[in-house]
Amino acid sequence: MSEAMTLIAQISDLHIKAHGRLSYKKVDTQAALLRVIATLNAMQPRPDKVVITGDLVDFGTPEEYQTLKQALAGLHIPFLLMPGNHDDRQALRDAFPEHHYLQHGETLNWQMRVNGLQLLALDSSVPQKPWGYVDEAQLQWLDEQLAREPQLPTLVMLHHPPFICGIEHMDQQPLRNPAALAEIIQKHPQVERVLSGHLHRSVQARFAGTLACVAPGVSHQVAFDLAENAPANFVLEPPGFLLHRWQPQQGMTTHLCAIGNYPGPWPFYDANGLID
Ligand SMILES: [Fe+2]
Repeated sequence: MSEAMTLIAQISDLHIKAHGRLSYKKVDTQAALLRVIATLNAMQPRPDKVVITGDLVDFGTPEEYQTLKQALAGLHIPFLLMPGNHDDRQALRDAFPEHHYLQHGETLNWQMRVNGLQLLALDSSVPQKPWGYVDEAQLQWLDEQLAREPQLPTLVMLHHPPFICGIEHMDQQPLRNPAALAEIIQKHPQVERVLSGHLHRSVQARFAGTLACVAPGVSHQVAFDLAENAPANFVLEPPGFLLHRWQPQQGMTTHLCAIGNYPGPWPFYDANGLID
């Protein structure tokens, strides 16, 4: 019998607003969250955990976190939270007191074990700033966690991706000290992925000997535009999420999954073989 599979769904950049308001006067982020929840609840096999890699709400208000909490009550899979640059640490903590892993320290870093996998979340948010940073104490904590069980496959997660992607207005609000993070990560080859959000697009890069992956937004996407001085625009392209599949003999694979219902599925084959 094959060893157990672990599935981690990663959703990102929910940007929930309160009182039915639209983000940027255009985007119904609450409806988008309900759609991804329906998609996740319907998955077979069901993910073991859902991690939400920041920008949970849009302006960090207590009302927004209450709206978020009400919506997440419909998710039938245990979920784990971390902040992004649109979040407010204290308001997040206050709204989710039962999430004990959020309730200590100045920055919201946590460690979790899911079957044979380790999740390590680093809080890259900086109050009132769009860019990200992880301080010396956080990096030391990360190093210690990783040194503890060098054989334990690990997903390191932080809202801000540790690389430049070529979309200029997003690159102006980057993780400000990716080299310091790289120095730690490269010492620990059990890091299977460094996972982020922030870019509202699916983007991958090699980073510190591992693979850095950015989840798309679950509502609006950042417009794909690599031109110099490209305007800071968003689009309502199909949203998605990442599904990280770990199987001990096969390793980690990351799937980009669409949210919502689409025509199909239809079979490739019938009684005569491949359908012509
Ligand atoms: Fe965002």
